[in-house]
Amino acid sequence: MIKNNLAVNLINIDVTFKQKNHVIKAVDDVTLKIEKGDIYGIVGYSGAGKSTLVRVINLLQAPSNGSVIVNDQNMLALHSNQLRYARKKIGMIFQHFNLMNARTVAGNVAFPLRKSNLTKKQINDKVDQLLALVGLTDKKLTYPSQLSGGQKQRVAIARALSNDPDILISDEATSALDPKTTKSILILLASLNQKLNLTIILITHEMQAVKQICNNAAVMENGRIVERNNIVNIFSQPEVKITQEFVATANQIDEAIDSVLAQPNIKHLKTNEVLIKLKYIGTVTDEPIIVGLYKQFEVTANILAGNVENLKDTPVGNLVIILSGQANNVKHALKFLEGLDVKVTILKIGNDIKSVIGGSKR
Ligand SMILES: Nc1ncnc2c1ncn2[C@@H]1O[C@H](COP(=O)(O)OP(=O)(O)O)[C@@H](O)[C@H]1O
Ligand SMILES: [Mg+2]
Repeated sequence: MIKNNLAVNLINIDVTFKQKNHVIKAVDDVTLKIEKGDIYGIVGYSGAGKSTLVRVINLLQAPSNGSVIVNDQNMLALHSNQLRYARKKIGMIFQHFNLMNARTVAGNVAFPLRKSNLTKKQINDKVDQLLALVGLTDKKLTYPSQLSGGQKQRVAIARALSNDPDILISDEATSALDPKTTKSILILLASLNQKLNLTIILITHEMQAVKQICNNAAVMENGRIVERNNIVNIFSQPEVKITQEFVATANQIDEAIDSVLAQPNIKHLKTNEVLIKLKYIGTVTDEPIIVGLYKQFEVTANILAGNVENLKDTPVGNLVIILSGQANNVKHALKFLEGLDVKVTILKIGNDIKSVIGGSKR
């Protein structure tokens, strides 16, 4: 078999569920390649097929069609012993933690090792290592009911790592947690990715989580992957509508625009003014843009809102500004901005300017 750098290679996967009088195509011709060591986001609304798709990876869900290659192994060709071993190398965590309340934290983490060849001492050492890794050393003998949601998820993560998996699938694991706890769990996942070279598949409907830790992401709708890209491109130039909707949920600038549009001076925009949004990627920064506009075109730029976010070390900036000046000069200024690597969106335009740029409102 050809060796490559893929942790997961799903090819033309279909999953259909037959109900009494109809058939549900939960996964529809999905091909998905995830590189080893990646943190890969799978995003979509409820019912999109995300959980069904990832359950195919360890064959908890058999596909109706397609190939499932995990770490260069054809999962559908494995005998039951081999499959059992392969599954151990794919850890999973869930929204509701699925801990056993009658067992201590240590008991939960040790549970998947109960049939291993390890001695009691080896299991105990392993549990200690795992609890240290997730920051729960002092909770070893505590019962789940005494833990917070974030701590419960840490226990679940330690348990999922007990068999030293190569891949960790997180199915909405932060969806029941508050934003601060979510952040700390995501930081933990990112550190495990680094320390253990763990490939992580992060299923979520929270775009903020994807933004925080993923390198790549796919967007699912009606069982299909409708868009996939690296994180910088997904957030800076989403192509399909549903991706744009998701990206907007993690983009504070759109909220800022709503409040800007409600301001009286914007409601009654002067005829020589235009309200625009600028989006720029990489090294372009706002200052030279603003200064340049005045020096070259005598157009003043008034900043109303702005932010810069780092997506995997690539800065992506957003600015909401009013340009004002002679209509022709503003027209040239807009051209100049478009010539830089800046995406310009006109939000509102005064009549003078509208007339010189031919009313071509984008
Ligand atoms: N075991 C099942 N039997 C019948 N239909 C199912 C089953 N599992 C999931 N589905 C259906 O498949 C579709 C995708 O579900 P799911 O993968 O859970 O989506 P998501 O995780 O994106 O919310 C939904 O329409 C769901 O109702
Ligand atoms: Mg789901």
